[in-house]
Amino acid sequence: MTSPSLLFVCLGNICRSPLAEAALRQRAAALGLAIEADSAGTGDWHVGEPPDPRAIEQAARHGIDISGYRARQVKRGDFARFSHILALDLDNLRNLQRLAPAGHGTRLSLLLDHVPGREGQPVADPYFGGPEGFVETWRQVSEAAEALCRQLA
Ligand code: 4NP
Repeated sequence: MTSPSLLFVCLGNICRSPLAEAALRQRAAALGLAIEADSAGTGDWHVGEPPDPRAIEQAARHGIDISGYRARQVKRGDFARFSHILALDLDNLRNLQRLAPAGHGTRLSLLLDHVPGREGQPVADPYFGGPEGFVETWRQVSEAAEALCRQLA
């Protein structure tokens, strides 16, 4: 069986989805779970850029270096490459549904739908707020990573 491959998608691919990718990679490694993970944005403004410095700092606090990540835009071909695509909020989920090729076999879902009690909730965009927003983002994506690993194990 091939390993599950998960793509996390937010708007800019510099704040939320890189942190979701990092949290999942860390949790899966701790559990010895073989997975592939990547992240992307529905927008193209930050393509080629490293994550937001506040996201880099938040990941570093948890022992993860994401400074080498580079933003990219999600593409239709991602639906052939990933077994799971996780949207960080409902706007991005709707945009992914529009982009999805007919008959694709990818499991497309809202990230927090995987966390019992948080179904239907977005991971709020911390980009325009203060640094405390990134603490909350980390908390939410960590919960999601834990829940996803439980499901994939
Ligand atoms: P992200 O946050 O979607 O979590 O990466 C954002 C990053 C940049 C912008 C919006 C959200 N922006 O408007 O440039």
